[in-house]
Amino acid sequence: MNFKNFLILNIILAILISCGQSSSVNIEGEYSSFTPGEIWEDNQGVHINAHGGGILYHEGVYYWFGEHKGERSNSAFVGVTCYSSTDLYNWKNEGVALTVSDDEESPIVRGSVIERPKVIYNAKTDKFVMYFHLELKGRGYEAAHVAVAVSDNVAGPYQLVKNGRVNAGKWPLNMTDEQRNYTVESAHFDKWWTPQWMEALKDGLFVRRDFEEGQMSRDMTLFVDDDNKAYHIYSSEENLTLHIAELTDDYLGYTGDYVRVEPGGHNEAPAIFKKDERYFMITSGCTGWDPNAARLLTADNIMGPWTLHSNPALGEDAELTFHSQSTFIIPVQGKEDAFIFMADRWRPKNPIDGRYVWLPILFEDGLPVLKWFDEWDLSIFD
Ligand code: GAL
Repeated sequence: MNFKNFLILNIILAILISCGQSSSVNIEGEYSSFTPGEIWEDNQGVHINAHGGGILYHEGVYYWFGEHKGERSNSAFVGVTCYSSTDLYNWKNEGVALTVSDDEESPIVRGSVIERPKVIYNAKTDKFVMYFHLELKGRGYEAAHVAVAVSDNVAGPYQLVKNGRVNAGKWPLNMTDEQRNYTVESAHFDKWWTPQWMEALKDGLFVRRDFEEGQMSRDMTLFVDDDNKAYHIYSSEENLTLHIAELTDDYLGYTGDYVRVEPGGHNEAPAIFKKDERYFMITSGCTGWDPNAARLLTADNIMGPWTLHSNPALGEDAELTFHSQSTFIIPVQGKEDAFIFMADRWRPKNPIDGRYVWLPILFEDGLPVLKWFDEWDLSIFD
């Protein structure tokens, strides 16, 4: 066989092998599709370690920030990782964007809990601003803090600026004077979850309790609107009620304007996008690391009112959101109305092995729907 025939034979063989494996990796060894729930290797051949993540698109590049997880514990022993990509399939490890501290006095000391980091860019200050859910070391999930870190460079290093509760001394815009002045207190209830307790909760029981110290903030995301105003969306009030809080122009603090969404609705893992002047939010219920059915909310104004719809997931395993929990929705650049639902399939017994479930957001009757695909690519949006 001459060299030319040998080459042709090899190419045919390579094509046959790649077809036979129905692999998402093309002949150059690069990914050319998404395979939700499978191992997803970075440019170094290592499963991506960026859980509970979010994406920032900046100057032609997507940056994926997420929780670094180890093999046993969910606590942060490394920090927030960053990966970059120009095609959303292939990700380059950019290293640790926010590093945990060795100083026991630091709120982000090794062993604290750092979850659901999200980064936005502030054009006015030319800074990258990271928000994340922070739980102080050794205190379980009781702190319910949000933390803010800043960097001049997208991939970091980020420096912690502050952490704490949200909007201390401020009332939600959509809490009535009557509700603000109720004298019912948590201590008046022996038991949670009774109908009376739930009524009191809806009337702002925990908002009043936490008024001085600031509102609790756990699962969270950020959203920058077309007018560059940014919002922090977080599970508050013991994870029972979502809050949406407007950020100051530099994105480093709160304007004091915030609303409660679905009081008592038990929404976690908020992920949001905007299409045709309408806001869409996908959340999960509250069952810890175990998956549950997603929820869909829509609004014409980000500060509400928000309307609750049925589970956007359809088909087999829809009631478990295909064994995953939302974390972010990515607007795909250069394509119209193209959004990717980004979710985590947690593996609490071996957190580092947690998987990523990315699915296209499809629309039926004007509302987003999620369907399972073993493999798909961006041409689905064409
Ligand atoms: C989930 C939440 C995760 C993590 C976990 C801890 O409900 O979405 O981000 O906080 O609980 O059990």
